[in-house]
Amino acid sequence: MPPAPDDSPRLDAFPADFLWGAATAAYQIEGAVDSDGRRPSIWDSFAHSPRATLNGDTGDIACDHYHRWRDDFDLVKSLNLNAYRFSVSWARLQPTGRGPLNALGVAHYRAQLERLLALGIRPFVTLYHWDLPQELEDAGGWPVRETIDRFAEYASLTAEALGDLAADWITTNESWCQAFLGYGEGKHAPGRRDWRAAVAAAHHLNLAHGLAVRAIRAARPGASVGTAQLVVDFVPASSAPADIAASRRWDAHHNQTFLGPLGGGGYPADVLDLYSADGLADLLRPGDDAVMAEPIDFLGVNHYQQVVVAHDQNAAVPLRARDTPAEPALTSLGWSVKPESLRNVLVRVAGEFPDLPLYVTESGASFDDYVDPHGQVIDHERVDYLRRYLAAAGDAIKEGVDLRGYFAWSLLDNFEWAEGYRKRFGLIYVDYATQARILKASSVWYRDLISDHAALS
Ligand code: NOJ
Repeated sequence: MPPAPDDSPRLDAFPADFLWGAATAAYQIEGAVDSDGRRPSIWDSFAHSPRATLNGDTGDIACDHYHRWRDDFDLVKSLNLNAYRFSVSWARLQPTGRGPLNALGVAHYRAQLERLLALGIRPFVTLYHWDLPQELEDAGGWPVRETIDRFAEYASLTAEALGDLAADWITTNESWCQAFLGYGEGKHAPGRRDWRAAVAAAHHLNLAHGLAVRAIRAARPGASVGTAQLVVDFVPASSAPADIAASRRWDAHHNQTFLGPLGGGGYPADVLDLYSADGLADLLRPGDDAVMAEPIDFLGVNHYQQVVVAHDQNAAVPLRARDTPAEPALTSLGWSVKPESLRNVLVRVAGEFPDLPLYVTESGASFDDYVDPHGQVIDHERVDYLRRYLAAAGDAIKEGVDLRGYFAWSLLDNFEWAEGYRKRFGLIYVDYATQARILKASSVWYRDLISDHAALS
């Protein structure tokens, strides 16, 4: 065997019980959108509206995982993964967002969890990966405070119904995308463009998280509960004070709006300043800070990119900032490939939450994968990406970060939201015409890394 390149992960950096996983989300893979009592979520409505997604793609069929999950879980097992993160669909479990759970939805996820446990795969259940029941959006959606009570009810009922089979719970996923892409920029469901509404949604998602932690704990006292939030590594374009300030504003916007209140003491000053004209302070009620800072058992870091930020007088208020031109190494979404950024965000988050175990709950890249004439998908770029990002995760562990697991995004190619099916993030290739799955070279590389790691102990 040729010697390992210098930037390969040092396997001895990873603890013996490290979780090697992959992640998915319900609307991106399940399909079967009107089966067994499921009703529309905001993503069904949005994807079906004109020009919302690339090529008009929707999640109607997706990877048909709703019917193929047994085979897909066999693939998870064949890759040696010892953990799997997936989301349960709110619109399937509680189709209108109120009242008792749908028994068919419960039975579906119980069967999935039972199978994962039988295979020796530890499930991490995400409660909210952006699929708000449409009826709750019709009642105002996340900008309306009442939605947090609906989420708390859903969390409580779901923990009751599934909590004997799942110990690890993730309340909310990437609240930034839901709030700001969904309600501010209109690029994600529900497609609204109203910055005040986005700020309100952000606050309510923070509260919804805290209430869900309480609800899950009340229903399942032994549960381990956290949230999975996007953490971007922002770097100022220069040492000019204006660029440094712009980078801070972006950090406040993307990162601190959600990480800040988790740590206690409410929103950091940078966040309050940023949204002072958008009514954030008016939304705050006594007790909110404590709800948002409800103690958690772990923090999930979703990390994709480093962004270099420059001040731009012409950019929209309040950010007045823009990305500088992208670096040469890019994914097919134009995102930078900078492995040290994963190390940077892990060290930073560990510094801000010193006693909290961390997981990388998402990390991955889309590339233009294709099936070659031999029927194989040789995704060298993703192998290289994983190798270097895992090495960076190992560096963070060596620097003292209490990192307990890594979930590659994603197990399967899937519905990449507004980008439709063109962008492929999977370890496993999906031929959408036939629903055939093909293990990409990256999945085989990951499988072998996991067995090499197991062989160490
Ligand atoms: C984060 C989201 O949680 C996930 O749904 C999405 O597919 C990936 N980022 C890639 O954009």
